[in-house]
Amino acid sequence: MRQHVNPLSKNFNEIGKIPTLIEMFDDPKLNLHLDIGCAAGEFLFDLALVNTSWNYLGIEIREKLVKTAKFKVQEREIKNLYFAFGNAYNILNDVQSEFIIKNVKSISFNFPDPWFKKRHFKRRVIQPEFINLLSNLLQKGSLIFIKTDVKDLFDYMDCTISRNFNFKTIDKKDFNYLESFNPNKIKTTREKYVIVNQLDIFDRIYIKI
Ligand SMILES: C[S@@+](CC[C@H](N)C(=O)[O-])C[C@H]1O[C@@H](n2cnc3c(N)ncnc32)[C@H](O)[C@@H]1O
Repeated sequence: MRQHVNPLSKNFNEIGKIPTLIEMFDDPKLNLHLDIGCAAGEFLFDLALVNTSWNYLGIEIREKLVKTAKFKVQEREIKNLYFAFGNAYNILNDVQSEFIIKNVKSISFNFPDPWFKKRHFKRRVIQPEFINLLSNLLQKGSLIFIKTDVKDLFDYMDCTISRNFNFKTIDKKDFNYLESFNPNKIKTTREKYVIVNQLDIFDRIYIKI
């Protein structure tokens, strides 16, 4: 069982230098997708190799995973994938990231840590301040995808996003996945585990209006 990282620890207050898009990607003009809490990044490797017309940026708070993922990117010479280490909110709240986030077309929060105890809810990655930040920085039409196997966490995330009037739910029936960051509906590592174990999956898509 892995040790959870406390995202509110002072260790994550300092942000490393955020590279510019041109430093991160071969073609900085491509659509950019951001995956928050990407762990070892397997999902993003699968996506980046198949969808070369998108750029992918993963943010993860466990430094060792990010170092290993970055090494794999270099080794495999993948030009549309980058990983950043740190607390996602602190990274995106930094002025250095403003130009990156303005280019983001979509963001995924896949199976975030639930932090079941009420006194730990503030450690959950989706917080009203984070959604306000995204609502201020994202362009109109940008999408947020959430997915979890924990119903309480789903209700909490849904409530937090829906309370922000700049985001509206999209009906999945009307959604064209082929135009999204994940046209082949590739599964994340946790999602594969959840499917094998026949657990429920709760997901929703929001659009910035
Ligand atoms: C349960 S794992 C899910 C991993 C992956 N998204 C998947 O679906 O397989 C949640 C991940 O989010 C990371 N994480 C938690 N809080 C974070 C934060 N504030 N910023 C960045 N990463 C975070 C954790 O370290 C962990 O790797």
